[in-house]
Amino acid sequence: FVPPGSVGETGGVAAKDALGKDILFTEYVATKPTGDRSLVQGLKGDATYLIVNDDKTLESYGLNAVCTHLGCVVPWSAANNKFICPCHASQYAPDGTVLRGPAPLPLALAHCDVDEASDKILFSPWTETDFRTGEKGWWN
Ligand code: FES
Repeated sequence: FVPPGSVGETGGVAAKDALGKDILFTEYVATKPTGDRSLVQGLKGDATYLIVNDDKTLESYGLNAVCTHLGCVVPWSAANNKFICPCHASQYAPDGTVLRGPAPLPLALAHCDVDEASDKILFSPWTETDFRTGEKGWWN
């Protein structure tokens, strides 16, 4: 059984663009402003936000874009510095924490790493404590 997505040297699933092509880190951060949150295909093909840090590295986690209320994909609003769900107006902080319901839970996390050899961006499951809540991730 081969799961969707290519498996890199360090394990994990390569982040892909809308065409299903593996995204290369160097090229990606060169084209994005700091603080950028853009959607890519993540684990299981889930729409996942990559976060560009101020120093043009990638944040060590990606955020699953699926609203924890009823599952709409939540867009990032750079102007408001938050994620705002178009379906029932839930709002999430830049790290996916709920600012305003009805969403009951933060956006799910995935580990995000760069494989130096291939320059690919790799996602892997976040199975440990959710640093935002201090509890086990609700998605596990
Ligand atoms: Fe996002 Fe209801 S699905 S607020």
